[in-house]
Amino acid sequence: MSSKHLLVGNWKMNLGPKQGSSYARQLRESITALSRTDVWVAPPFASLPIVASELKGSLINVGAQNVHWTESGAFTGETAPSFLTELGATFSLTGHSERRTYFGETSEQVAQRTVAAINAGLTAIACIGETEAERSAGTTEKILETQLNPILSSVAKESVAKLVLAYEPVWAIGTGKVASLDDIRGAHQFIQKVWSAHNLPGTATILYGGSVNPTNFAEILALKEVHGALVGGASIKLDQWMELIRISEATAV
Ligand code: PGA
Repeated sequence: MSSKHLLVGNWKMNLGPKQGSSYARQLRESITALSRTDVWVAPPFASLPIVASELKGSLINVGAQNVHWTESGAFTGETAPSFLTELGATFSLTGHSERRTYFGETSEQVAQRTVAAINAGLTAIACIGETEAERSAGTTEKILETQLNPILSSVAKESVAKLVLAYEPVWAIGTGKVASLDDIRGAHQFIQKVWSAHNLPGTATILYGGSVNPTNFAEILALKEVHGALVGGASIKLDQWMELIRISEATAV
């Protein structure tokens, strides 16, 4: 686990090359020092080259929103891990709920993508989380375990430092409904339990995601089980994103 909070902005399908590069330039100018926060941004693929070039040599890392599990081949629309490292990307999300829900990605594919990213030298941020129906049915833990097992059983023990987990309850993503502090704490503790059950070294680095904004972030980050956040909506508005960074800088690690 890092000695800093990890704040990751998932731009989703927003900020194309023109807007993305201008946003990145402003972000670079706004962030001149960080002591308690690692700031990472994941632009859409089309914006990645220009954003990576704008942020080269800055305090901000750039990554992708998804990555394929092979190095080349007939996989229309996909991106190989080495294409990302060539652009200067240092990480990739895997298994975001929008990939699972709208594009049918399975937990096995998510595990393959995660391992391939790590093998290429990227940090993989593997996302897991239950739907509202699953939470109401009392199956949250079962779902988290089912999503985690293929990932945790395929990442090599010596590579786990390159794995970050993001707990994102699907019903909290982009809805303005944030999970309660008890729900977040409980889910993160359960994820650590599954981590230990896989005999992995140390503890998992776990981000919370789902409607994080400047109003709710301080109390979420104050939970010792939470190591940072994966942020969608509030990461594409510079004032809100800078406010989240300020809160992180003001919160003890
Ligand atoms: P949100 O998205 O912050 O807009 O809820 C989070 C995510 O999908 O990673």
